[in-house]
Amino acid sequence: MIKKYCFGESVNTGATVLKLDSSQEELSYFKVKKQDQDTKGYQFIYLMDEKTQVFGLGENVRGMNKRGFIYESHCSDDPNHDEGKRSLYGAHNFILIRGKQNLGVFIDFPGKVRFDLGYTDKDEIRIEVDGEDFDFYLICEHSISEIAKRFRNLIGKSYVAPKWALGYQQSRWSYKNEAEVEAVIKGYRENKLPLDAVYLDIDYMERYKDFTVNKKAFPDLKCFAKHLKEQGIRLVPIIDAGVKIEKGYDVYEEGVKEDYFCKDANGKDFIGAVWPGKVHFPDFLQEKTRRWFGDKYKVLMDMGIEGFWNDMNEPALFYSEEGLKEAFEALDQLRALENIGIDEYFEMQNIMGSIQNSEKDYGRMYHQYNGEMVCHNKVHNLYGYNMTKAASEAFDRIEPDKRILLFSRASYIGMHRYGGIWTGDNKSWWSHLKMNIQMMPGLNLCGFIYSGADLGGFGDHATEDLVMRWLEFGIFTPLMRNHAAIGTREQEAYRFKDLEGFRNILNLRYSLMPYLYSEYMKAILEDKMYFRPIGFDYEEDEMAWQVEDQLMVGESMMIAPIYTQNAKGRYVYLPSDMLMLRIRSMEDMDRKVMEKGHHYIEVGLNEVLCFIKPNHLVPTTNPSLCIDTLKEDKLNLWGYVTSEATYMLYQDDGYTKKYEDETHYTKIGIKKQEEKYELSLSRNTVKINMNIN
Ligand code: GLC
Repeated sequence: MIKKYCFGESVNTGATVLKLDSSQEELSYFKVKKQDQDTKGYQFIYLMDEKTQVFGLGENVRGMNKRGFIYESHCSDDPNHDEGKRSLYGAHNFILIRGKQNLGVFIDFPGKVRFDLGYTDKDEIRIEVDGEDFDFYLICEHSISEIAKRFRNLIGKSYVAPKWALGYQQSRWSYKNEAEVEAVIKGYRENKLPLDAVYLDIDYMERYKDFTVNKKAFPDLKCFAKHLKEQGIRLVPIIDAGVKIEKGYDVYEEGVKEDYFCKDANGKDFIGAVWPGKVHFPDFLQEKTRRWFGDKYKVLMDMGIEGFWNDMNEPALFYSEEGLKEAFEALDQLRALENIGIDEYFEMQNIMGSIQNSEKDYGRMYHQYNGEMVCHNKVHNLYGYNMTKAASEAFDRIEPDKRILLFSRASYIGMHRYGGIWTGDNKSWWSHLKMNIQMMPGLNLCGFIYSGADLGGFGDHATEDLVMRWLEFGIFTPLMRNHAAIGTREQEAYRFKDLEGFRNILNLRYSLMPYLYSEYMKAILEDKMYFRPIGFDYEEDEMAWQVEDQLMVGESMMIAPIYTQNAKGRYVYLPSDMLMLRIRSMEDMDRKVMEKGHHYIEVGLNEVLCFIKPNHLVPTTNPSLCIDTLKEDKLNLWGYVTSEATYMLYQDDGYTKKYEDETHYTKIGIKKQEEKYELSLSRNTVKINMNIN
């Protein structure tokens, strides 16, 4: 059951409009308090018992169970994802409470929301909304999985990426010209390492101007893109939110003329700065701006580009004109002092440190909405959302039947309908590999199925073992992209010594594609979670709910990635008997049925550890160098069958939008008859070779 409570001015039908008669009231399981006059917000308080766990909040630091810390919904451009951070790039206001009664709570509000999950008072959840105009959704169901499904059902179907975008992708800031891109492809192809895409970071543009191409570096992008596609490689360029202020630059000129940009308090185009220096920010809250900006992607699509990543759309703001002026004035005052003591020193640091992404600057930026000026702070979390919506809606106009790859850095729940996300600027640290593992189910809960992190880590220098372990996990994430920052060690798979190890891991991704793609598509079409904490599948098993570093992947598999340096193995909890697979390559793996309970399992650096649930199946195929050439008409069926199992294989063309067609499904059945396995297929479009137990 979903209950919707509207606060403030929202006009809605069928919902309870909550007016507080006294300063405090009850709303089902929550106490509701009005905040003081200044904040004008609301506070919701829920009492937790000792066993209560809290899941959700999408992109955030810390464990899968989010209890014990405070998080803030505020899309933030902050590459330092340490445990103390309350916000990352996405604002995902959904929590799932596993307690006396299981509840889902979604706060639909584009400004700041704080989720204090036992931080101020260890027994209380306090949700604070910094505003009066929002909707509060309460989802009550018996089972946790049912709540998750209900919520997904409420927020709409997730974006579907083209199938090639489930292949392995290589990125770096930046491959600066054709020769550098070619060298990367050569590195992969010559070493027989699969690859589907190479990314173009900001340097492909002419002085960081959106929708331009640096002609010296890429003299004929159209021809180049075509040549690469013939090798099964797509180019994926970045698009940044800020539009460079430069006379004669068409995007800038049109934006000024047609009033497409955000304003300052005086109604002039707001001036901020990002990579190109001074920029204007498109006012994506306006329909006309979305249409205009979205149509610009066509410039690149006409050159054969089939995928984009939207960046710096929190929006990242290095400084504003006014903010910079104030900072220099404050520094001048300090400069005039004879002696800079400790207080002044800290002040100086503070002045410099707070220029970037400052709240004050966001407060100086305005949107136009229904004839009114709306301060950016009030709608901050919708900026990346609307930039991505703009692109997605334009793709529907430009190429209505074709799937275009699109993912964004900033996001808000709802954006999952328009594109995927990547989790921003992580670091080449083991702790960030763990964070990647723990973040995935939260993202799925909020609708983001096509998602993934910068594999190998973005900032800082990667090591061979870290990249290998990270890829061993990355082969399960729908977005599988290796990306690194400028100035860091090169971390393309072919740069390292154990080439065979990397080849086997990447091949495994492609071999698992019949399963991974089926599960990816079914997660979207049936509002299911692709990644789940294991308790979601074993709700009665209290121990399963304690596990923070294993994940269910799709309906048949559980993974237990290694995320610590020098580890030769790890402890694993099996919530039921399972078939353990320790995979070195498709030809060389250990298979062993293991009993429910705790185990220590040795896992070599080049081995992938995964498990198949009882009476479950995993269809696989032979690997290939890219998705375009992957053959999936003869499958090799892995499984653990004690009595009988069925599997719904999903296969479509991977490129058009005809997702919902019965002919995409093949039901595979296996029945154990004494010591033999009997196979049944609902259609004869695939040939199956059995490899059970
Ligand atoms: C931002 C992005 C990163 C990109 C860089 C340069 O930091 O998050 O992925 O490489 O900008 O464009």
